Formats: sequence, structure tokens, C-alpha cells
Amino acid sequence: MAKSKPLKSSAKPKAANPKIDKASVTGRTSAPPIEIGIADASRATISEGLNRVLADTFTLYLNTHNFHWNVTGPLFNSLHNMFMEQYTEMWNATDSIAERVRALGFRAVGSYADYSRLSRVKDAPTEPIKALDMVRVLVIGHQTICVTLREVLKTADAAGDDPTVDMLTQRLTIHEQYAWMLRTLLEE
Ligand SMILES: [Fe+2]
Repeated sequence: MAKSKPLKSSAKPKAANPKIDKASVTGRTSAPPIEIGIADASRATISEGLNRVLADTFTLYLNTHNFHWNVTGPLFNSLHNMFMEQYTEMWNATDSIAERVRALGFRAVGSYADYSRLSRVKDAPTEPIKALDMVRVLVIGHQTICVTLREVLKTADAAGDDPTVDMLTQRLTIHEQYAWMLRTLLEE
């Protein structure tokens, strides 16, 4: 497909209006500072941690959806459905995590480059693997997220960031539950 030329604006730059503050025109810096009772440095540290939780969650979501598509063998039906339930839950969770980062005043990461840089959860193997090996990969993934979650939870708790503590506690409950359910499939 031919590359389309970027459209040039015919509008000439307007002369500065001394009566209007530049910040209020751009809308970028006219908002009041974020003062919600959490120190700026804590908001930054919590947001950085939440972006790592987001990267872990997205990667594990993708691995689980990948396995939903590619699982084979006698356990197909139960694993195909179980994986769907789990990836749907994680997909929905990414939105809440990202929006908490925004509420704290920072940018939520949303690219594969950022996710691969920040995620502690590894990508699923690219070669085909057996059903129970998929389950093993997912158990490790859920346990890995729990480690990240506990780190960020401590930071949020120390800063008095209750909404983040609440959200991360719920995430921890889910991932520990999924790790248990999947681990059970590997027990005799
Ligand atoms: Fe499906």
C-alpha cells in the first residue's frame, strides 16, 4: 500500500494572546497538581510497580489465551474452557490496573516492547508443548505474579494507598487461587 503523505495544516500559528495563559490553551498543564494525600515520590514508585504488575498480567493473559487455542489431547475440553475463564478474568484486570496507574498521575504501559522489558512472567514456549506442560507453565506464571504483587502491595501499603492495596489484594487472591487449581491438575 502506498504511503499517504501526512496532511499539512493550512492554519497559520496564532499570535500569542497575552490575556490567555498558555497552559490553559493547551490543556496540558492547567490542571491542578495531584494532591491526594500520597507523596509524589510514592505515587511514582507505586505506578512503576503497577506497570510491572500490568506487564506480568498481560503476558500471562496472552500465554493463557495461546494455550486455549493450542491445547491438545484428552484434557482438551476441560483445559480449553478453564483457560478461557482465566484469560478473560486477566484481560479484564489489565484495564483496572492500567487505570489505577492513570489515577495516580502516570502513563500506563501498553506496548509489547514495554511488556517484554517489564514482565517477570516469561513468554510461552514457541514450540508446541503438551497439555500438562502448559499447565506447568501457567502455575509458574501465576506464582511469579504473586511475587511481584506482594512487592508492590508493600509499597502501596506503606504509602497509605488503600485503593491500590485493595486492588492488589484481590489480584493476589485470584492468582493464588488459579495457581492452586492448575497445580491440582498435576497432582496424582
Ligand atoms: Fe475461544
